[in-house]
Amino acid sequence: MRTDDPVALDAWYAVETASELTAAPRATRLLGQDIVSQRRPDGTAWVRARAEDGTLGAPLPVRERYGCLWTTLGNPEREIVAIAEAEEADRRFVPCGWVRMRTSGPRVVENFLDMAHFPFVHTDILGAEPHTEVPAYACEIRRDVDEVWATNCTFFQPRIAATESAGDFVRLTYRVPSPFVVMLYRVCPSAPDRQDAIALFIQPMEETLCRAQAVMYLVDTTSTHTALLAFEQVIFLQDRIIVENQRPLRLPLEPRHEIPTRADKSSVVYRRWLKEKGLRFGTVGLP
Ligand SMILES: [Fe+2]
Repeated sequence: MRTDDPVALDAWYAVETASELTAAPRATRLLGQDIVSQRRPDGTAWVRARAEDGTLGAPLPVRERYGCLWTTLGNPEREIVAIAEAEEADRRFVPCGWVRMRTSGPRVVENFLDMAHFPFVHTDILGAEPHTEVPAYACEIRRDVDEVWATNCTFFQPRIAATESAGDFVRLTYRVPSPFVVMLYRVCPSAPDRQDAIALFIQPMEETLCRAQAVMYLVDTTSTHTALLAFEQVIFLQDRIIVENQRPLRLPLEPRHEIPTRADKSSVVYRRWLKEKGLRFGTVGLP
């Protein structure tokens, strides 16, 4: 059933890969609502809600950005996240494809923000024992832009990126520009004055079912597209196992049962931000 949560309804969501859209209708689900996407003969795209009897509704608002088709079931006050790196002509654009996960969107965001799991989940890629400590970092809700940012994050990584085979401390910045979009900026190993930008667009299908697509804007002139894709997909499939096994599947917004530690500071701030917004879809604990 389609949610009545206005916070979830009034947001933009990536729902298809733009390049895969053709004249043949594609059906998927968003916030408990069936939607159908199609490319018109003139090249533009539409998305419509489909009722249980098969009737299609009026075309919904659409945008094509970052390799994806975006839509909304409500009236967003804000535009789709601005990713400055997407405008830089020398970047490698790597859309990584959709991965479906049996959990809530906020759980996927929380996992994306979490560095403490690197050595245990992405062993010998994004982390390795004995380097298990998460060094102190800053995390805040930026009121001027209404986003969550975690800065000065560092972590010892055995591989860092597809170009690297030796380990080093990677420098990371995390950004949550909307409840279902999360980003990672990583100082480029091969160009230390620039940052790779990796965005994860989450399509919440049901409260505890979603799919997500990572898109990367990388400074990397050497790796093959296949190698970049394979690097990301290995990591993502490791994450899927973790997030699908967390309970409850919906993200608790009352942290009283969980002991905050420095490592999950970003999780605490993200939850506080969602609670302030009053997001119910995919969360538990709001009255
Ligand atoms: Fe992970």
